[in-house]
Formats: sequence, structure tokens, C-alpha cells
Amino acid sequence: MLHIEPKDLSVPEVHKLLLGGVGPRPIALVSTLSEDGIPNLTPFSFFNAFGSNPPVIAFSPSRRGKDASLKDTYNNIIKTKECVVQSVTYPMVEQISLASTEYPPDVNEFLKCGLTPIDSDIVKPKRVKESPFQMECKLIQIVSVGNGGSSANITICEVLKFHVAEDIFKDGIIHPDLIDLVARMSANFYTRASGSAIFEVEKPGMKRGVGYDMLPQFIKESHIYSANNLGKLGNVEFIPSREDVDLFVNEIEKNEIKGFEPTEEAFFRYLRHSEYEKMLKAVLSLAKENHSKTKTYIELSAKCALENDDINFAWKAALLAGKFIIK
Ligand SMILES: Cc1cc2nc3c(=O)[nH]c(=O)nc-3n(C[C@H](O)[C@H](O)[C@H](O)COP(=O)(O)O)c2cc1C
Repeated sequence: MLHIEPKDLSVPEVHKLLLGGVGPRPIALVSTLSEDGIPNLTPFSFFNAFGSNPPVIAFSPSRRGKDASLKDTYNNIIKTKECVVQSVTYPMVEQISLASTEYPPDVNEFLKCGLTPIDSDIVKPKRVKESPFQMECKLIQIVSVGNGGSSANITICEVLKFHVAEDIFKDGIIHPDLIDLVARMSANFYTRASGSAIFEVEKPGMKRGVGYDMLPQFIKESHIYSANNLGKLGNVEFIPSREDVDLFVNEIEKNEIKGFEPTEEAFFRYLRHSEYEKMLKAVLSLAKENHSKTKTYIELSAKCALENDDINFAWKAALLAGKFIIK
């Protein structure tokens, strides 16, 4: 590990560290108007939402690194107290990058980047038509921390009105594949938050999982499970009993599965196809011949069930593996 205090680095080095380690950062595409009515459009990745009652978002138009001057967005919003903040999606990422060019204050970045301005309902700054998620906002407060180059101006705003495209909803939620957001990482890196980048993690919600500390030692010490696998096992409220495991084994053994093969070769075929019940059934047959890999193969079945979100199966198989510890 490197152990670094910011005072020992230059400001650009601190900036690079933050950009690399704090990410992916959502991008706010902020539309403001100058006092003279000149539109401004700029992306900011020091951005997030902070509360829903009332809805509050914040972004930071920092002072410019080179001369500590204030950015046009800051100068506009401090005077006019209004902005529209929109989410940035993959099809518009090159255009928002173009909008980040340091054009002088009298240049309308809508024209420069080619995104389309449309009227807002409550505030004066325009919305960006191409974004499927737009928020009309009023300024609550700007919290400035420092006054040198790259110092923060945390611009806290309340959302007065949301404009959301209907087609990004699926089953009542904004679906990541449909909104297709992008986020900022270090240097010139962005990430596209859709497709294979998306996965689900079940929320504990009101449930109180048993926790990592309650997992049997032989499960924690297994070389088969990943840290994520163990986290998922810790998110159950009850660990199955010995009787539950015995019943489970009886059922697996009893279950007639057409075309099932109780061989080691078939076990690996089932593994490739995530057929964890057949995997376990095959191991149980191999176990009768004292197969040396019984524990490992049962754990592989448990892992496969875990990765297919069959936590009940996974727990019972994981506990069953404990019966095959070679002392
Ligand atoms: C994706 C992206 C994210 C950015 N995030 C920030 C940020 O969070 N804060 C900031 O001060 N500048 C950020 N910038 C740089 C500003 O967009 C740039 O300085 C811009 O010219 C400022 O415009 P303005 O003077 O019209 O407000 C970002 C640039 C890009 C491309």
C-alpha cells in the first residue's frame, strides 16, 4: 500500500488520486443561464443525489486548476439561482465531452456541442432534449471549501421538477439497460453502466442476516468460495439445521432426472451448464465410492447454486460438504 497525506502531494497529484479511486462517478450535465441570458452547458462528475425529501442533488464546479478562476457555471448559478441537471447517457457522451471545452462565457455550448435546448416548465435555463432524465432545480446553497486552484464549490440544489422518458422504465423502475448511463473514472476513462456491467445484489432490507461471523469455520476456510459467495451466505436469517440437510440429501437422491449420469465427466458438464442439482446428485453417487474430491465437488455445487441465487440449496449443500472433511 501507498500511505499518502495530501499535504505531501501537488494539487494535480491529489486530483488524479481522487479521480482514480472515487468512481465511477455519475455525470451531471448542467444547464444554466448568465445574467445576460447566455446559455451554458457543462458536465460535472463531482455529482450525486443526497436526499429525496425534498429531492436534493449537488455538483461541484471547482475553481480552475490553472489559475483558481471560477467557472461559468458557478458564476451563472450564484447569480440566477437556477439550473437544469440531466443525466448523461452513452449516445451523448462525445457531445457532453465537447461541451466541457473551456469556451469563453459568451459562447453558447448548446451550439458548440450540438445538443438540443428545449424549454423548461419552472426555471429559465433550457433542458437537453437528448437526455431521458432531466431535473429542473433551484439553488439552495454553495459550500466553498478552500479558494485555490481545484478547490470545491459544492452547489446544493433542490429538484423542482423531473422530466423522465417513459421508455426507460421496466417493471416500474428505471432500468439500467434502458437508460444506458455513463460514468466518469480516472483520466479519459468512462464506463457504460448497462449490459454485462449490470448485476443485482439483494438488499438486506428489513431482514437481519446471520452475518459473516456466524458462518461455520470450514465454510470460511474453503478455497472454493469467493468473498462475495460468503457475503451472500451471511445474508440469510436462518442457517438450515442438520435435519434440513438430511431431508435435502434424501430428496436429491430420490429425484429421478431423465438422462442423468452419475459420473465425474457429467459433473463437469453440469457445472458448465449451471445445473447444480445434477452436479450434487452426481457427487452424492461419487461419494459412495469414497471419491477423494467429494467435499470440493459439493462445494462447487453450492457455489454454482449461490451464483444462480438459489441460496437455500447453496446453504444446505455447503453444510453437507462439512460431513466430508478429511481429518
Ligand atoms: C465528464 C466530465 C466531468 C467533469 N467534471 C467536472 C467536475 O466535477 N467539476 C469541475 O469543476 N469540472 C469538471 N469537468 C470539467 C468542466 O466540464 C470544464 O472545466 C468546463 O469547461 C467548465 O465549463 P464552464 O466554465 O462553462 O462552467 C468535467 C469534464 C468532463 C468532460
